[in-house]
Amino acid sequence: MSAIFEVRNLKRSFGGLAVTNDVSLSMAPGDRVALIGPNGAGKTTFVNLVTGNLKPDAGEVRIGGETVTNVDAIGRVRRGLVRSFQVTRLFQDMTPAEHVALAVLQRDGRAGRMFGNFLAMPGVMAEAGSLLGKQALADLPDDLAVLMIEHDMDLVFRFAKRVIVLAAGTVIFDGSPADVTRDPRVREAYLGSYADAGSAA
Ligand SMILES: Nc1ncnc2c1ncn2[C@@H]1O[C@H](COP(=O)(O)OP(=O)(O)OP(=O)(O)O)[C@@H](O)[C@H]1O
Ligand SMILES: [Mg+2]
Repeated sequence: MSAIFEVRNLKRSFGGLAVTNDVSLSMAPGDRVALIGPNGAGKTTFVNLVTGNLKPDAGEVRIGGETVTNVDAIGRVRRGLVRSFQVTRLFQDMTPAEHVALAVLQRDGRAGRMFGNFLAMPGVMAEAGSLLGKQALADLPDDLAVLMIEHDMDLVFRFAKRVIVLAAGTVIFDGSPADVTRDPRVREAYLGSYADAGSAA
């Protein structure tokens, strides 16, 4: 199937440090890709380049075959690119259910009451509970291409059909979850004890 998302030879440096160093990859509809790599590998920078929050020094970003390197972040969203954040907890003292409850209240135009005790609103908490129970990743439309950045390896191996490993700004592996734990460069750069434990599902 043809690529709906593609980056070619993407480069970005900060003060002489090549943080995104000639990264190329493409995704087809239905792809479930995990992008992993050690801290500082350049994952967040890569996503910022893709979304248009950061300008590349060189290279190209394409959505649906169209070059969008000079299109701003909003224009990329309009073309179907959606980002959700790695750390989505907004308020330290709130549980996941309370966060979802807040979103439910906002949707209903009742968020102004958030300082009231919405834990005591059984309808809201019941809906939050059912949303949380839904396993959001599994419910995504089949034709969507998903790139997930995640440090939780158990989640990566449950979700991803393909794993891309970034290390020092470079793609060092692009292949199946079964192969990634066996790859010597990946072991060296990142997975370490997890690969040795042989716990890839
Ligand atoms: N705006 C910036 N200015 C200077 N250096 C930066 C900037 N943004 C990122 N870097 C550097 O680029 C490198 C990659 O950072 P990045 O945040 O993309 O890594 P990451 O893979 O997302 O790491 P983590 O797993 O910790 O989230 C790091 O060395 C970081 O210090
Ligand atoms: Mg990051």
